[in-house]
Amino acid sequence: MKSSNIKAVTHGVSLQDRWQKHGHKGGVLWFTGLSGSGKSTLAMALESTLFANKFEVFTLDGDNLRHGLNGNLGFSPQDRSENIRRAGEVASLFAQSGLLVITAFISPYVADRTRVRELVGDGFHEVHLDPGLATCEARDPKGLYKKARAGEISDFTGVSSPYEAPERPEVRIDTARQSIEQSVAQLVAYVEKVFRISDI
Ligand code: ADX
Repeated sequence: MKSSNIKAVTHGVSLQDRWQKHGHKGGVLWFTGLSGSGKSTLAMALESTLFANKFEVFTLDGDNLRHGLNGNLGFSPQDRSENIRRAGEVASLFAQSGLLVITAFISPYVADRTRVRELVGDGFHEVHLDPGLATCEARDPKGLYKKARAGEISDFTGVSSPYEAPERPEVRIDTARQSIEQSVAQLVAYVEKVFRISDI
């Protein structure tokens, strides 16, 4: 922490008031999984359905943030940690504004995800998309596994860079066995249970 002589100010609008206005609590659905596990596809499909169901919701996607906020970061362990630190800080701010945030980052390291969990607190829900490496590699939607196996991409997650699976995610989804529609339905039910405020 390099900043000094700073003091946080208090908001005039309470979190409770923001939640009441939206009809749901704010928080973070943190998707984690290998490239090709379906994070972005499922995140965007879930975002659309929740939006239609009157949730204030926004998705932060790894590839998208790497075009802007995180555009100066690569795929070394240090850069991935910084990527997740920034994404976690942004997600936390969104949650404090009362929004439901869906994030789609590989986020391969337990320590980085734990740090975000501690930052966000109770509103953090980890969702592990786990079709298995073989399925991700067979799908290879961006042709990146092929390039990684050919040595054209270094530090590729699952091939030449580690992925540390969560031990106790709040939700685990086998995206090889169930359709996108089934996965969306599973998550919508979870979100309705965990985030919806029913007494308004
Ligand atoms: S993370 O590891 O830092 O969480 P993030 O989710 O932001 O990764 O970005 C992953 C995306 O970057 C992948 O979906 C893929 O399109 C692209 N990518 C490019 N190079 C790599 C690499 N070496 N390892 C993993 N993904 C990569």
